[in-house]
Amino acid sequence: MPTLFTPLQVGELLLPNRIVMAPLTRVRAGSTHIPNNMMVDYYSQRASSGLIMTECTMVDAHACAFMGEGGIYSPAHVAGWKRVTDAVHAKGGRIFMQIWHPGRAAHSLLNDGEQPVSSSAKAIRNETTHTPQGAKPYEIPRALRTDEIPRYVEMFRSATQQAQQAGFDGVQIHGAHGYLIDNFLRDGVNARTDAYGGSVPNRARFLLEVTDAAINVWGAGRVAVRISPLVPFNDMVESQPEALVTYVAQELTRRGIAFLEIRHENHALPNEQAILHIARRHFQGVLMSNGSYTRESGEGTVVGGAADAIVYGRPYIANPDLVERFAKQAPLNEVNYDRLYGGGPDGYSDYPVLAR
Ligand SMILES: Cc1cc2nc3c(=O)[nH]c(=O)nc-3n(C[C@H](O)[C@H](O)[C@H](O)COP(=O)(O)O)c2cc1C
Repeated sequence: MPTLFTPLQVGELLLPNRIVMAPLTRVRAGSTHIPNNMMVDYYSQRASSGLIMTECTMVDAHACAFMGEGGIYSPAHVAGWKRVTDAVHAKGGRIFMQIWHPGRAAHSLLNDGEQPVSSSAKAIRNETTHTPQGAKPYEIPRALRTDEIPRYVEMFRSATQQAQQAGFDGVQIHGAHGYLIDNFLRDGVNARTDAYGGSVPNRARFLLEVTDAAINVWGAGRVAVRISPLVPFNDMVESQPEALVTYVAQELTRRGIAFLEIRHENHALPNEQAILHIARRHFQGVLMSNGSYTRESGEGTVVGGAADAIVYGRPYIANPDLVERFAKQAPLNEVNYDRLYGGGPDGYSDYPVLAR
């Protein structure tokens, strides 16, 4: 029976443990979106993780939503990330890049005046976003025309190619949290009447086209997908989450991707557990689960077979040596929530490891 410390084959990689670092936006890259020394330190400090996933990373110069997130759309970005991947590999780690377009969560003030795009012209309601001019309401996005969609698939293809050049071990396609791919997936937003809207297969078409493009670059064993069918963040909702997960899981099985990750708000909620079980039933590959796991609940999930690996977010912010702490059942550092986004190394790359 596997535990959190049993090695796991993921595509072409053998993970030494099943404790995976979640994608975590920390906006330390500055206005160029090019990784710096601080980011090299931060990621390499976490190299004992079974697998690191990077923060969501812009696939295009006009795919900014957070001021200072990383990007992967030019040779300078490739060179910057190569320093990160080299440092992680030098410490014996493995790292996937999460590739991302923010869709309707972008803002024109962050993208040279370009209006955000989405599946449909519906804004995120009752929330604001940070812009160079302070907090602003989200804008009404422009619905992509059918003939424009290939250009957006191409952004993800090109990002995959550049992630490969930057020395990553694979890419995770960000299909969660109400960003561009999720704007197509979930029907609370997607009101299209073309081949990308309506039925579940139509709403999943953009995700699958992006996945196929990434596979064409690098092979299925280097491509992963994250979805969050029940997470309401960014004003998202889905009327048929079971059917959506079933279809996506079946289609991703056919493609043989490296792994599928289900991101939950809280994995312990009965409806979240039901979704994980549906994914388990219909996805014949490595399944990862995320959302409010502790060491104990993560171990229980892996031992019980509901998922193959556990993805930890907030615990990884404050504990670069999370694997060692779990192994010793040692106490965890607390997250400094004032230092989540932006700024310097404090609250980012200065969390202490256990004394040896
Ligand atoms: C500061 C912060 C930044 C995050 N950034 C991302 C991101 O870039 N991409 C993503 O898919 N999820 C992101 N998330 C969500 C996490 O990956 C994870 O799903 C969430 O923290 C729940 O896991 P946990 O309960 O282990 O913290 C972020 C969460 C936090 C707290």
